[in-house]
Amino acid sequence: MTQLSHPASYAISHAAGILREGGLVIFPTETVYGIGARAFDPIAVSRIFQVKGRPADNPLIVHIGTVSQLSALAMEIPDVAFRLMDHFWPGPLTLILKRAPTLPPIVSANLDTVAVRMPDHPMALALLHEMGEPIAAPSANRSGRPSPTSAAHAEKELGPAVKMILDGGPCRIGLESTVLDLTERRPCILRPGAITQEMLTPFVGPMAVPQQEARSPGTRHRHYAPNFEVLTVDSKAWPSFVKAWHRPEKRLGMICHHPPENLPKVVYYRHFTGQESDYARDLFSSFHEAEAAGVEIFLVEAVEKQGLGVAIMDRLERAGGMRSAVSYDRLPRGVPPG
Ligand code: TXA
Ligand code: MG
Repeated sequence: MTQLSHPASYAISHAAGILREGGLVIFPTETVYGIGARAFDPIAVSRIFQVKGRPADNPLIVHIGTVSQLSALAMEIPDVAFRLMDHFWPGPLTLILKRAPTLPPIVSANLDTVAVRMPDHPMALALLHEMGEPIAAPSANRSGRPSPTSAAHAEKELGPAVKMILDGGPCRIGLESTVLDLTERRPCILRPGAITQEMLTPFVGPMAVPQQEARSPGTRHRHYAPNFEVLTVDSKAWPSFVKAWHRPEKRLGMICHHPPENLPKVVYYRHFTGQESDYARDLFSSFHEAEAAGVEIFLVEAVEKQGLGVAIMDRLERAGGMRSAVSYDRLPRGVPPG
């Protein structure tokens, strides 16, 4: 069998051809789907900003297939970075390093740093190897929206903007990579993800507390927000909160560990097993599905802020604009949160 007669490898070489000509391709990673362009093609990269409606001050992540590609992207790479790459790559860890002058500044939104990761997905790696050069790719959603974790959700977000979508099935992790800044005196987690603080500490030692406003431009902007209201409810308070629910006119969605409640107007329900990795994997897809079901308020059972729970709660807090059911419940009945 020749290589081209194999549908998957045909698709990969077709996708690489599109990227080489300056086009955009949506591809799967283990975290979420990305929308990619050749990192060294500033016009193609500018199209990513345009189709996502992404603010120009929010830098992109550069994906690589081999560590040898780093030298054209980053410089003054500290030893700890190589130890992290050895251990966690390919995988959901993005490293912020000093940018090399060879990389078009638009990729990094003109910062003197660059975000790099090697994704752990066979299709992403096959595409990167076929290209033989780095691919700049943010998550394949319109700016401010939840990241897509399936080809169908990516299609719904940005399908018309790309020439091709590689369908690799649902993403294994479901939340975006951990972003670790290695350019300051102390390493700092700018975005929590599946590689947790506990996993990183043995490699990097004590970390700085993130000052997200100043350091990670992307975190300034609204994020992960579906087109309904998200109310995150503490797990202990869940049963009494649901019992006391007082907005019967609203179409409800729920994702919870507790058994389903017999509320009127529940139009979308997803149970999670109690395993945080299942919850992380399903969270964004539940947002997309709940939108399709016409949900107006989505009740979400919170998890403990430890391990992967830190990343889950980070996304929930951003999706809900930092509102919580606790403050919501203190409002006079019928008044929506501000
Ligand atoms: O899992 C992921 O990381 C996915 C997949 C597709 O790889 N990508 C992703 O990209 O989530 P994006 O663009 O949605 O998020 C990139 C984050 C943003 O918060 C951005 O501000 C931050 O990384 N970032 C990128 N370059 C940076 C830099 N030089 N300094 C600080 N933060 C940076
Ligand atoms: Mg994103």
